[in-house]
Amino acid sequence: MKTSRIKIQRLSKFLFSEWDNSIPGYSLYKLKLSLQVKSLFMFEKNFKLHKEDRALLLILYCYFIQDQNAGAIIGLDINKGLLISGPVGCGKTTLMNLLPSSNWNKIKYEIIPIRNIVNDFNEAGFEVLEKYKDTQDYCFDDLGLEPTGCHNTKDCNVMEEILLSRYDLFKTKNVKTYITTNLNVEELEARYGSQFTSSLDEMFNIISFAKSSKDKRI
Ligand SMILES: Nc1ncnc2c1ncn2[C@@H]1O[C@H](COP(=O)(O)OP(=O)(O)O)[C@@H](O)[C@H]1O
Ligand SMILES: [Mg+2]
Repeated sequence: MKTSRIKIQRLSKFLFSEWDNSIPGYSLYKLKLSLQVKSLFMFEKNFKLHKEDRALLLILYCYFIQDQNAGAIIGLDINKGLLISGPVGCGKTTLMNLLPSSNWNKIKYEIIPIRNIVNDFNEAGFEVLEKYKDTQDYCFDDLGLEPTGCHNTKDCNVMEEILLSRYDLFKTKNVKTYITTNLNVEELEARYGSQFTSSLDEMFNIISFAKSSKDKRI
């Protein structure tokens, strides 16, 4: 399936040097400092800005300050959510925690590890799905690694159900959803069905970490 992620990557490469140097407010140096401070405060960890992640970080900054003009230039729609994909350990969860906590941020969501949702479903059943039908914005962390849900011997693809209702909420009430995942779009389709993947472009800016992005766990 073709998505807008290619466009974002290509354009960001082109714009990257201009942004860093000439657009007021887009200073990688200041952005790095602000994330370092937050990272020390939240995780007692040093945040490092790796070269291969710079463009992605600027794109995310553009989104989190809700810069409609710069967003339009690079193919980023600030009215959609985000689907952040990338290899294990590249820093997806870290960024989705750090970025909303910065003082320049304009985006708010609750981050939920998907494994917890499925565990809750296995214990309590379908009522768990109701929570995500409200108009709050959520970031579902680590899509694709969760097991199939099973409550009282009844199997359920929990995230497929939740994401379909999030799509309805997006269409009817502009409610946003954020996702991190290690899977690519083809793998997501195999897991959650074509109905979900056909709504991806509408609902999300699809942003991928570079293949060369390092595993920060080591
Ligand atoms: N930019 C960074 N600088 C330093 N450590 C990082 C950075 N990004 C992530 N980490 C660390 O690397 C590990 C993996 O990061 P995480 O965000 O969980 O990756 P992912 O969600 O992509 O699998 C964590 O221990 C995190 O603290
Ligand atoms: Mg993660």
